[in-house]
Amino acid sequence: MSTAPARRERTRRIGLLTAGGDCQALNPALRALTLGATITHGWEVYGFKDGYLGLQEGRFMRLMPSHVTNIQGLGGTIIGTGRGQSGAVGSIEEATARCREVYDDLGLSTLICLGGDGTQRFARHLHENAGLNIITLPKTIDNDIRGTDVTFGFDSATQIGAEAIDRLHTTASSHHRVMLVEVMGRDAGWLAAASALAGGADVALVPEIPYQLDKVVAAVNEDVERGRAYSIVVVAEGAMSAERAASGEKVRAHTAVMELIDQLPELTGAEVRLTTLGHVMRGGSPTSADRILATQLGARAIELAVAEIYGVMVAVHGAELTPVPLTEVGGAPRCVPLDHPLLTSLRAVGTALGD
Ligand code: F6P
Repeated sequence: MSTAPARRERTRRIGLLTAGGDCQALNPALRALTLGATITHGWEVYGFKDGYLGLQEGRFMRLMPSHVTNIQGLGGTIIGTGRGQSGAVGSIEEATARCREVYDDLGLSTLICLGGDGTQRFARHLHENAGLNIITLPKTIDNDIRGTDVTFGFDSATQIGAEAIDRLHTTASSHHRVMLVEVMGRDAGWLAAASALAGGADVALVPEIPYQLDKVVAAVNEDVERGRAYSIVVVAEGAMSAERAASGEKVRAHTAVMELIDQLPELTGAEVRLTTLGHVMRGGSPTSADRILATQLGARAIELAVAEIYGVMVAVHGAELTPVPLTEVGGAPRCVPLDHPLLTSLRAVGTALGD
């Protein structure tokens, strides 16, 4: 438990936290927020450790410009992150009360939360039920947050997906194999579709389009008939067969790829290998595009704090960075629309989507 320094009149204090799974470009966002607040406005900045848990437990560090110097290329988050909202405290009510208490003890005027869907929902809860002045930023490799065109982390993870697929092409080609590549993305197919498009996959299976097994087999066999003699099949961790989708049962992550690794050898007569990209997709340096996006979102959040606009997420709408009410953000994940250019372009270049 850290002790709150004595409050000085007229100096605004803001809190920052990163919650949920990490992703690339959290650090450039923290850098932009810290430098904008301290250097431009002379405010004090406090970073809560390990997400909402650090907020409840009063674990924080004062963030100075020196802490964020040269972290724009560093993966992860310098203040740590954590899943879960109520942590060791117990009930949501107790957690909410603790958050309010720590916020007040520290004399914060604003709390800026960087996170995915779950983080956004709890931020809204704290804004509505504890009256905290909250602004959020959209981060996740899954790109599935409602209310924004894009999230930071997505471009970096897509780059890793594309590079992995590039590498798999050469070994698949040498051995004439079918390579299954499972990518993250939870219940949305953004990462699978984008990685498949960038990496030139033959098949891309996304949760939005339940696949027919015979269509996948036909696509793989067609590669052989075309003389290519190998196939790259990208599978979203949340993908599902049409059969499973029709059963109405909740399909667990990784089900599709585990079924395909069993089914495809016999049905195609090919050797099949599986690569699971998993957390590798969340690691390492952010791309320039993500660094720029995260920095711009951080700078915009500080502008909103100056204007005292709260209960909002800073969203990307085309070329604009717009505050969107948190009421429009949480809930069901934002899935890939079936007419989205990612999917239509995959079809246009002959990548089978299994339907
Ligand atoms: O939400 C980001 C994400 O990486 C998902 O793509 C994935 O399903 C999940 O987090 C993994 O969570 P954890 O890091 O808790 O294993």
